[in-house]
Amino acid sequence: MSNILAQLEARRAQARAGGGEARIAAQHAKGKLTAHERVELLLDEGSFEEFDMFVTHRATDFGMEKQKPAGDGVVTGWGTINGRMVYVFSQDFTVFGGSLSETHAQKICKIMDMALQNGAPVIGLNDSGGARIQEGVASLAGYAEVFQRNIMASGVVPQISVIMGPCAGGAVYSPAMTDFIFMVQDSSYMFVTGPDVVKTVTNEVVTAEELGGASTHTKKSSVADGAFRDDVEALAEIRRLFDFLPLNNRDKAPTRPFFDDPVRVEDSLDTLIPANPNQPYDMKELILKVADEGDFYEIQKDFAANIVTGFIRLEGTTVGVVANQPMVLAGVLDIDSSRKAARFVRFCDAFEIPILTFVDVPGFLPGTAQEYGGVIKHGAKLLFAYGEATVPKVTVITRKAYGGAYDVMASKHLRGDFNYAWPTAQIAVMGAKGATEILYRSELGDPEKIKARAAEYEANFANPFRAAERGFIDEVIMPHSTRRRVCRSFASLRTKRLTNPWKKHDNIPL
Ligand code: HXC
Repeated sequence: MSNILAQLEARRAQARAGGGEARIAAQHAKGKLTAHERVELLLDEGSFEEFDMFVTHRATDFGMEKQKPAGDGVVTGWGTINGRMVYVFSQDFTVFGGSLSETHAQKICKIMDMALQNGAPVIGLNDSGGARIQEGVASLAGYAEVFQRNIMASGVVPQISVIMGPCAGGAVYSPAMTDFIFMVQDSSYMFVTGPDVVKTVTNEVVTAEELGGASTHTKKSSVADGAFRDDVEALAEIRRLFDFLPLNNRDKAPTRPFFDDPVRVEDSLDTLIPANPNQPYDMKELILKVADEGDFYEIQKDFAANIVTGFIRLEGTTVGVVANQPMVLAGVLDIDSSRKAARFVRFCDAFEIPILTFVDVPGFLPGTAQEYGGVIKHGAKLLFAYGEATVPKVTVITRKAYGGAYDVMASKHLRGDFNYAWPTAQIAVMGAKGATEILYRSELGDPEKIKARAAEYEANFANPFRAAERGFIDEVIMPHSTRRRVCRSFASLRTKRLTNPWKKHDNIPL
């Protein structure tokens, strides 16, 4: 018997050794951890239960029958993060470059099926040369099986992708269909076609980093939601994000112990808004001062910074925050910020995470670039997302809420539950200058008259009371009591029930 046990241990050790010492050393030399090391860091100590560690590929062409490493280039299983269940796959670059074979795909599909059945999130640690070239269509079929499961799991269990090495070809499409993509700086890249193909087809010369590195995807393309310095930081931050998320769409987001007073008063917020309405201020200060313990997990921090999205907790419970950022482009809505916020709002709604919206928006960005780029459709995404969301929605207008952007930003008319305004709010079709220039065009030659007209307009509209008179604003609140108001509002909405009419699915403008 002891011999049999020893044999099992030896087989296990061989499987854990992946592609062997030399390739592991090469992986470490690139600053990358191995597939097993990553899983160990991601999950609670000792919680990982591995599946299918003895699975091998079935290919016979190209001499493949002579090399059949156990595990076939991917480590799969389940474990816990701070005690909550999660399914994980971690591609092993030391085995055939982590490339995806038929059996490698089957291993991933197995844990995805279990995740869906048991209602737990899936985290994929991607480090792969793409489809296993020696297997041809069998590996392409394997990818499609994974894609189909990504689609079925979307909106049912959270799916998180971490790109920790190459991710090329169709391989990028599985992460693309997950809820969040994070990358590791300088050691990961994603592209549909690599630099060589780009050169052949378009004559462009570009490095892998420029084409699909972390900086490209967090700042330019918005494919990725964030990037981290190295594997260790990335895995620690994924653990932090995981703690904000529910396990599935029937579960509530976790409530954690909190040490912050829900009625905490922040006097400094009374002076957050500058006297000059054209002067910016940092909306993140408000987010941090409202959040439990000032803890904010920002999503897509480096893209479309004119809108801020991310998670906070109020009284220990997760809340999604969307906020215009006056520091960047005056907080205007444009194509990029609308797309970014719309996707975030839809994630929150799919997983029953309440949404807190802070509004200071001068309107939509004008110009040919925006119109040619389809700002009408992209702006409509955010409008649509807010309007269809049935989760608790609390909105605070701090300063400007002009034009269509007033409607879009979780207004009362889009089923906002609590719509507050600070006394500094200005709710109008547009700012005083634009309005007087249109209304009093014939008086434009007389600066004194125009000044008086603008003052009259401001007296009428540069305040929240016109909206409050109609009940579009439920209450004008003191800035210093924002945390208390917002906490109480969400607490009162814990039993909210709202459903949309039956439909197969909606037709959000894409
Ligand atoms: C089989 C592969 C492989 C692959 C890498 N390897 N990619 N084996 N299929 N797709 C193997 C290599 O032969 C090598 O084996 C080991 O992995 C490490 O690869 P290196 O090239 O030495 O590593 P590196 O220099 O770091 O380059 C990594 C790489 C490069 C950039 C990923 O290997 C590469 O370009 N691979 C091909 C990428 C690709 O075009 N894939 C297909 C995409 S199309 P040894 O034995 O020497 O260690 C696709 C279609 C999906 O994925 C369709 C879905 C719709």
